[in-house]
Amino acid sequence: MVDLDGRVAIVTGAGGGLGRSHALLLAQRGAKVGVNDLGVTRSGEGAETAAADAVVAEIVDAGGEAVANHDSVADVDGADAIVQTALDSYGRVDVVINNAGFLRDRSFAKMTAEEIVPVVEVHLLGGMYVTKAAWPHLREQGYGRIVNTTSAAGLFGNFGQANYSAAKMGLVGFTQTIAHEGAKYGIRANVIAPLAASRMTEEIMPAELLAAVDPTYVSPLVAYLASEACEDTGRVFSVGGGYVSRVAIVEGPGVVFDDIPTPEGIADRWAEITDVAGGREYPGGAGEETGAVIERVTTTS
Ligand code: NAI
Repeated sequence: MVDLDGRVAIVTGAGGGLGRSHALLLAQRGAKVGVNDLGVTRSGEGAETAAADAVVAEIVDAGGEAVANHDSVADVDGADAIVQTALDSYGRVDVVINNAGFLRDRSFAKMTAEEIVPVVEVHLLGGMYVTKAAWPHLREQGYGRIVNTTSAAGLFGNFGQANYSAAKMGLVGFTQTIAHEGAKYGIRANVIAPLAASRMTEEIMPAELLAAVDPTYVSPLVAYLASEACEDTGRVFSVGGGYVSRVAIVEGPGVVFDDIPTPEGIADRWAEITDVAGGREYPGGAGEETGAVIERVTTTS
């Protein structure tokens, strides 16, 4: 039984779309929920309180507990206030779901700083700021669950989304490091790459696809990752429309040259260098990977 009784969860960008769905399910499973939303447009303009307030009302009407917050995740003081709202209302925080964000798509050739900076700030820095504000509390209590939201665009690239992809892949690196740093404090951090119908995707995806990928298909994985039942950490999951899978970063077996290779020597063995079949992951982090490289280099020479 995946149960969040007694836990306090913060969901950012929970005034609509995926965040709303996550907040409703976490509350249904017993969590008291900090519902954050700045109430901006799809491209991050404006601000209004109605979205977060409406989700709080939905949770309360269904017999759950929730409190609204209308600060921006992309602001250090805002992030502190988001966590403080949960602490003031419920006295603790156990779960952080970093979900808030918006898009400013354009081909990289035409992309301006006004399209790069705010997108990196909301997705990457926003996720870091809110996690940072919660971190001392999670560490002190020896328990925490963090779920960050990446995207297929970040993991695999997508035309017109250089700003967003960079921020989203940044969250993967961030998560892998806090997974290591949080391990001895009972903190687990994972990443989801969702696929869901929302205002963010309604103009991009065809109607048949939108109909098949309601946000409610994504939230059960979030609830599992947010619960004590899940001990995994530093992992990435692709999820949507009933599909759930793990995405991994794998390093191929590679090639060890006897001497400093020439550029032509690299070119000659390109097929082996680029082949990741039989490759491996490094759950122990950069140190484990570097150790494996050193071992191969020293045992082969
Ligand atoms: P959405 O636009 O419905 O929800 C995003 C929410 O974040 C909005 O309610 C917005 O007001 C809020 N928000 C934006 N900036 C904020 C800020 N500075 N502080 C607080 N709240 C802020 O979009 P959707 O689809 O629900 O997206 C949720 C997350 O999932 C985003 O991080 C998005 O990048 C990610 N994602 C969604 C995919 C999808 O298929 N819908 C695909 C891949 C990733």
